Amino acid sequence: MSDLSPVIKNIESQKKSVNDVGSLEKMRLQFLGKKGEITLLMKELGKLSPEERKAAAEELNKVKDSINDFISSKSEEFEDNLMSEQLSSERLDLTLGTKSTDGRIHPITQVIDEVIAIFTDLDFCVAEGPEVETDYNNFTALNTSENHPARQMHDTFYVNSETDGMPNVLRTHTSPVQIRSMLQGKPPFRLIAPGKTFRCDNDQTHTPMFHQVEGLVIDTTSNMGHLKGCLETFLKEFFETDVPKMRFRPSHFPFTEPSAEVDIGYRKEGNQIIIGEGDSWLEILGCGMVHPNVLKNVNIDPDQYQGYAFGVGIERLAMLKYGISDLRTFYDNDLRWLKHFGFVPLDIPSISGGLSR
Ligand code: PHE
Repeated sequence: MSDLSPVIKNIESQKKSVNDVGSLEKMRLQFLGKKGEITLLMKELGKLSPEERKAAAEELNKVKDSINDFISSKSEEFEDNLMSEQLSSERLDLTLGTKSTDGRIHPITQVIDEVIAIFTDLDFCVAEGPEVETDYNNFTALNTSENHPARQMHDTFYVNSETDGMPNVLRTHTSPVQIRSMLQGKPPFRLIAPGKTFRCDNDQTHTPMFHQVEGLVIDTTSNMGHLKGCLETFLKEFFETDVPKMRFRPSHFPFTEPSAEVDIGYRKEGNQIIIGEGDSWLEILGCGMVHPNVLKNVNIDPDQYQGYAFGVGIERLAMLKYGISDLRTFYDNDLRWLKHFGFVPLDIPSISGGLSR
């Protein structure tokens, strides 16, 4: 058989000019295609004597293998290049521009985020419910019957729709989320429910819309001591102090027995509020052991299960922690106020990273 070295030389020089999928395919056809140089040489093997044929075939196969190796490594390389080109051309920058820091997180949103960070760290999950509630969920299921005097405590907004013959209400507290959550699942429960609440009330210390965070723990052992420990831990974390000055006062709610309210001690210095000093008190939350009637209303056996609940006023937490003295300023939409009291969007509160910086 003729000397292979010119073909090999040709192959080597062709290899150098391969720079894309097209030229690679051209090279393949030139040598290994139906009428390719190597293919034709293979066909001529039959004309050789058996000894010559064996040696020539070996040589030809070597050349063929080297071309095939080259082709597969090159096509892999071209595929990789194509993929990275595609990846870089389709790249989306999902990071938030850090230059645009003009916006501010409202202190209410900030406080809700802080409260969620603390309670989720204590193994609570977050539940939600609608702002338009049924009379049943807002009152009746919470052991507040139609003529119960407590209904008058909550100056209720009624809306123009009804459920089971009773007008719906704008929820007067977040407690109906207790009912919804317990009807949806099975005990034990360990949840908080932050959200908007509404009462027909408007003066220096009340706005018709305000925020609460509800807490609910139902299991077979939780008692008033646990409730107190839980709230103390929460207030300690929230106010970022060792022991906030606080007091538990006996109180009454139809849906808890016994019931208590918690006040935080503070002192005012000019426009500033100083927590943990002085002898002014601000009521921030109501709490108690869940009333057996409430458990019965959600088909939970009160002989087997028990637990506690609390409802915290978000605006009041914000006022104390951030020294905001007038409740109504929260909803004035005054940009200067928001710039002063607001929070930078990327400072997300967390227990490890800090609640408020
Ligand atoms: N729902 C009560 C209120 O709005 C607060 C509360 C919640 C009290 C849970 C006890 C238990 O005043």
